[in-house]
Amino acid sequence: MKLAGKTAVITGAASGMGKAIAQLYAKEGANVVVADINNEAIDGVVNEITSNGGKAVGVLANVVKQEDVDNMINTAITSFGSLDILVNNAGIMDNFVPVGDVSDELWDRLMAVNLTGPFKAARSAINIMEKQETGGVIINNASVGGLFGTRGGAAYVASKHGLIGLTKNIAATYGTFGKVRANAIAPGGVKTNIGATITAPSELGFKALEAAGFSPMAEASQIAQVALFLASEDSSFVNGDVIKADGGWTAR
Ligand SMILES: NC(=O)c1ccc[n+]([C@@H]2O[C@H](COP(=O)([O-])OP(=O)(O)OC[C@H]3O[C@@H](n4cnc5c(N)ncnc54)[C@H](O)[C@@H]3O)[C@@H](O)[C@H]2O)c1
Repeated sequence: MKLAGKTAVITGAASGMGKAIAQLYAKEGANVVVADINNEAIDGVVNEITSNGGKAVGVLANVVKQEDVDNMINTAITSFGSLDILVNNAGIMDNFVPVGDVSDELWDRLMAVNLTGPFKAARSAINIMEKQETGGVIINNASVGGLFGTRGGAAYVASKHGLIGLTKNIAATYGTFGKVRANAIAPGGVKTNIGATITAPSELGFKALEAAGFSPMAEASQIAQVALFLASEDSSFVNGDVIKADGGWTAR
C-alpha cells in the first residue's frame, strides 16, 4: 500500500474526483478526512470507505470559511494524529462567462472557492506539516483552464491560473527550503457532477471553447491515480509541477 499510515484531508470529497481520490487513498492505507459542504454525500463516502475496511471521517467544511478550514485541518490531528497530505480539490465553474459579462458576485465566488479556499487550507496545513519530521504534501486540483485561456470563463481561468501560481510558490519555498512538496493536476474533461452546474453557458465563452475543440472525457478514477502518484513516495522528487491529465486534448 502506497499511503499506509498517512493522513489525508481532501476538500470537495463528497463527489467526483474528490470522492474518487478519497476512495483510492483509503484503499492505499491512508486515513482520510472527507471534507465537503454536502453533509449527506459526505456520510455516503465515509460509510462506503469504512464498510470496505478503510479509515475515514467526515467533516462539513466550506473552504471559503476560515473556521471551517481550521476545523477540517484539526479533524485530521484529533482523529488520526497527523496531517501528511492535503488535496485542495473543491472547485466550481462559471458558465464560461467572458470578462465583459462577469458580475462582481460571480468573480468573488469563483476566487473564494477556487483560490482563496486552497490558500487558507495550505496555510493551515503547512504550519502543521513543517513541524512534523516527515513533512507533508500538497496537491492542488487545478484544470487545463489553469494553463490555457478558453477552458472556462474569465473567473474560472483566472482562479485556476492563480492556483497553479500558488502551487509553484509553495513548491519553490517549502518544497525547496522546507518539508512540504506541492504539485498541481490539470485535468481536461472529467465525468463528474460539475457538468450539471453549466446551466446557461455564455454564447461567446462557449464559442471560444468550441474553437479549441472538446475534451475527451476521463473517469474520475483516472485522475485519482495521478493524485495517488503525487501523494506517494513515487513522486518524491516531483515538486512545483503541473501534471496535465486531459487525454491529449491540449496536445492538438
Ligand atoms: N470535471 C471536470 O471536467 C474538471 C476538469 C478540470 C478541473 N476540474 C476541477 O476538479 C475539481 C473537482 O471537481 P469535480 O469535477 O469533481 O466536481 P463535482 O461537482 O463532482 O465535485 C465538487 C465537490 O466540491 C464540493 N464543493 C463545492 N464548493 C465547495 C466549498 N466551498 N467547500 C467545500 N466543498 C465544496 C461540492 O459539494 C462537490 O462535492 C474542481 O476544482 C474542478 O474545478 C474539473
